[in-house]
Amino acid sequence: MDQIQDQKQEPEIKIVLADESHVHYVDEILETIAAAAKVRGTGIAKRNPEYVKQKMIEGKAVLALCGDDFAGFSYIETWDNKQYVTTSGLIVPDRYRGRGLARRIKHMTFSLARARWPEAKIFSLTSGAAVMKLNTQHGYKPVTFAQLTNDESFWHGCEGCVNFDVLQRTDRRYCICTGMLFDPNDPDCLETAQKELDLDPTCRETIEAKYGPMPYKLPEKESKTLLDKIKSLFK
Ligand SMILES: CC(C)(COP(=O)(O)OP(=O)(O)OC[C@H]1O[C@@H](n2cnc3c(N)ncnc32)[C@H](O)[C@@H]1OP(=O)(O)O)[C@@H](O)C(=O)NCCC(=O)NCCS
Repeated sequence: MDQIQDQKQEPEIKIVLADESHVHYVDEILETIAAAAKVRGTGIAKRNPEYVKQKMIEGKAVLALCGDDFAGFSYIETWDNKQYVTTSGLIVPDRYRGRGLARRIKHMTFSLARARWPEAKIFSLTSGAAVMKLNTQHGYKPVTFAQLTNDESFWHGCEGCVNFDVLQRTDRRYCICTGMLFDPNDPDCLETAQKELDLDPTCRETIEAKYGPMPYKLPEKESKTLLDKIKSLFK
């Protein structure tokens, strides 16, 4: 009974674009990421507190907040002179899992990346089934590491991972993680992302309110009917 009452009183969980006022969440975020990696027994790129604070200050981080309680996090970063963007560090604390928060956070980071760097390819390196699923639903496709960025500073981030030796042994061609890429020039990717974001436009709208309309819509499709082609010859 008490439990039912508690659930009723829980504030609505909001997905927000982080800024300077949220830097006090950084330690909790990093502790939660480290604890989750330990439980999964997987490698994880290590981030230091200053780096994560910087992402918040630069408007590149997203938080889920239940009142003031930390309920989730992720951030984006550009590489190779803004030719690539990554969405990284996705974490939802145990008590908030299974309610679609990771999906909402991904909607926000993905929309943010598309709005700020519309020409950039978006990629993700992950060993997590949930993240692979979310990436696929946002139009990412599995790729070899050769199709990802060559930016040394990105790969430098893998050095803290327990599997780094695998990456080194294979000359950075293979590792435990799967590389997944969203290519803004691939109509399949755009169509899939559009369908996913249309399921719940709330996060996309938050980003558009700040950065203007997001170029996620499909380019006009070329007419394929024979009649149309003949008509165009006589125009
Ligand atoms: C992965 C994680 C972020 C998911 O958060 P969540 O809020 O519970 O996820 P959601 O409820 O939004 O679920 C998103 C999708 O992933 C699926 N999913 C969630 N957890 C999953 C799991 N452990 N395995 C497979 N799929 C999973 C859900 O079924 C859902 O898909 P659907 O809507 O098509 O059914 C959370 O479990 C977590 O923080 N884990 C530890 C950190 C981690 O693994 N981060 C990713 C590092 S690459």
